[in-house]
Amino acid sequence: MKYAMKLLSILIISLLFFFSAAPAMDQESAQKRIQALSAEITRHDYLYYVLGKPEISDQEYDQLFDELVRLEKEFPDLALPDSPTKRVGSELDNTFLQVPHAVPMLSLEKCYSLEELVAWTERTEEKAGEKLSFVAEEKIDGAAIELTYHKGMLVRASTRGNGQKGYDITDNARTVRTIPLKLKQPVSVTVRGEVFVRKSDFAKLTNKKGLNYDSPRNLAAGALRRKHSSEAAEIPLDIFVFEAVSDDMDDLANHADALAWLNKLGFKTNPNNRTFRNIHKLKAYIEEIGSRTEVLDYEIDGAVVKVNQRNIRKVLGHTERFPKWAIAYKFRSPENETVVQDIDVQIGRHGRVTPVAKLHPVRIGSASIARATLHNQDYINMLELAIGDTVKVSRRGKVIPAVEHVLEKNMAGNETWQMPIHCPACKTPLQREGKHHFCPNFDCPDQIRGRLIYFSKKMGIKYLGPKTIEMLISQKRIQHPEDIYTLTNEEMNRLRGFGEKKINAFMTSLEQSKTKPLQEVLAALGIRELGPRAIENLTEAGFDSVDKLLGADISTLTQVKGIGEITAQNILDGLNPQMRKTIKALRKSGLSFQTEPPAVLPGDTQKHD
Ligand code: IVH
Repeated sequence: MKYAMKLLSILIISLLFFFSAAPAMDQESAQKRIQALSAEITRHDYLYYVLGKPEISDQEYDQLFDELVRLEKEFPDLALPDSPTKRVGSELDNTFLQVPHAVPMLSLEKCYSLEELVAWTERTEEKAGEKLSFVAEEKIDGAAIELTYHKGMLVRASTRGNGQKGYDITDNARTVRTIPLKLKQPVSVTVRGEVFVRKSDFAKLTNKKGLNYDSPRNLAAGALRRKHSSEAAEIPLDIFVFEAVSDDMDDLANHADALAWLNKLGFKTNPNNRTFRNIHKLKAYIEEIGSRTEVLDYEIDGAVVKVNQRNIRKVLGHTERFPKWAIAYKFRSPENETVVQDIDVQIGRHGRVTPVAKLHPVRIGSASIARATLHNQDYINMLELAIGDTVKVSRRGKVIPAVEHVLEKNMAGNETWQMPIHCPACKTPLQREGKHHFCPNFDCPDQIRGRLIYFSKKMGIKYLGPKTIEMLISQKRIQHPEDIYTLTNEEMNRLRGFGEKKINAFMTSLEQSKTKPLQEVLAALGIRELGPRAIENLTEAGFDSVDKLLGADISTLTQVKGIGEITAQNILDGLNPQMRKTIKALRKSGLSFQTEPPAVLPGDTQKHD
């Protein structure tokens, strides 16, 4: 059989070669040949990348590919939308439009022990009212992606974004050889998966100069967000697809069937997925997954256990953040030891004081760690941590560096570190509220800087990053967000590193930021308790103008979903005289403060700037 296939391939190649050698070609035969070549290359891509069973040599493949490139150049109108040549990317700028997810991209509930995991399966069976089967999957540590196919054609790929809307990265996704551009059946389906870089490829790439990613996951995520898809094409990305949403799936009773169906459509699913009825066997398999992380050529940070029965999934539903039919079992994070050289305090834009450990740099996993948050005084007391102590440091969830515990006390006799009495930035006495200390001075220079940096970033103001903001603050030129809108060309010209081009880009983005909707401006002002969700609830409850918000009192605010008395009071405290002054001045500068136009319809795109 294998030989028959090989013979057939050789025959096809010879025929294609024969045709390609023919002189000047008419439209019709060019079309036929482009179609044949596209189909043939796509088949070989699938054999090589998805099944790992190539039928032809690299040389033979290159010959086919080069010929297709040549023909498409000669007859650009005849190139197919799913042409395999699209996989090499282009030099065109990606626009990264924001696109809504058909179904929100939720995260997963987490547990850290097998006991918790078993308890979850028992609780879930109880809720379902029947014995269930569960699918165990590896939790791939890569970049989440959503792929949308219309009648079998890949029409969109997007990142997770905020779970509701992601960024359109279709051109970059096309460069991933294991993402089918066309499915084997003309179905319309949306799938979710994880794009990743193999450990071996990461090692090879980091040996080359110029690559500045600390982990395969960050490299994968970075590749998907490259401005030019031709650059994304240079990173060897792979994918495992693990969930699907489609109308054509109603006859699939189980998740395992859905995975098999996805496989049949041409997607790459993880061969290590297993279904269990017996919880002991499930537990043993999860342990097995945990024991073989080192031998896998891709990074995993846990296992995912999912209810197999699709009808039960519907019954279980989901919370605001995660589905109730799945749970992630997270492995313990990698660790190392180092010495705490000092403890700094950082003042956030809301005045919250966070102690941060300055560490003797140490490698954890594939990253070098020099700082770790210590959260608050309680956390430091719990650790009994003093400067000079040797500590165990981990990267929780493989990302956030954390000081886990003290291994050896310092020899200098340093006692457990204590929060300073005064704010190191403005000398105002710190106040304790719950677990945290706060600097109560709204005009504290660190808070001012924090607010300006946050505002500039959220408003998409170009070239107004932390360094420039610090320069302008030290010149006493800016203090509040409204001051940014009074900056002139001449003033910017006096700043180091600001030439005409940069100033123009800055000024243009400043103008563009004025059209941001109320929700985004409010979020950028960073008023305490007014995060994206609260803002959404407020606008949904009819607070569609900033005047309504400025005129609100406790009783009107507490009528809004999710806002209790304490939150309402905090919001009103946040709308202090200076903040009100800022809002008025921003409006004078031309910011619209209007709510966003009606929600984007699925399929529509919204410009992200
Ligand atoms: S299922 C509704 N399965 O983990 C939840 N997720 O923490 C659908 N992930 O955003 C996700 N491997 O990007 C699922 N086998 C797997 C996974 C997996 C990795 C990622 C995924 C998700 C995140 C949740």
